Amino acid sequence: MTPHRPRLVLIVALSLIAILFSACDVEPRKTDAELGLNPQQAAGRRVYDAHCADCHFAYSKSNLKGPSLNGLFKKPFMKNGMPANDDRVTDIIVLGRSKMPAFQNKLTQQQLNDLMAYLHTL
Ligand code: HEC
Repeated sequence: MTPHRPRLVLIVALSLIAILFSACDVEPRKTDAELGLNPQQAAGRRVYDAHCADCHFAYSKSNLKGPSLNGLFKKPFMKNGMPANDDRVTDIIVLGRSKMPAFQNKLTQQQLNDLMAYLHTL
């Protein structure tokens, strides 16, 4: 055995541990550019991160405190059975729904427009 072997073994072991841990982690956050977001959609993503991300996943299908919003506008109906259109989704955001708080006084019209533009990309 060469004198360097133990160190090599240690490095390999540590790398394997690092790889294992990173594999358990959530998938890395994509940049706005990687997601192909235009400036308004990117602004909407900031609103989403600040106000919605605690309760809703945008890219995972799993539910958090609220249902995943992935593919929200891709199907005719939301999980709650309401039509997945701008009017109904805006109502839920503005008025709230059961355990979801109302955002009436928390978002400006501009923020709401940006947020809707972003939700359409999911
Ligand atoms: C405190 C947690 C919480 C926050 C913050 C929150 N929501 Fe919700 N949301 C919920 C819950 C819980 C539901 C399920 C309500 C029900 O019982 O129908 C829900 C439902 C929804 C729905 C209907 C989804 C479906 O498929 O039925 C939409 C759309 C939605 N939220 C959008 C948003 C957006 C956009 C934001 C940010 C502005 C947001 N929510 C912030 C908890 C939250």
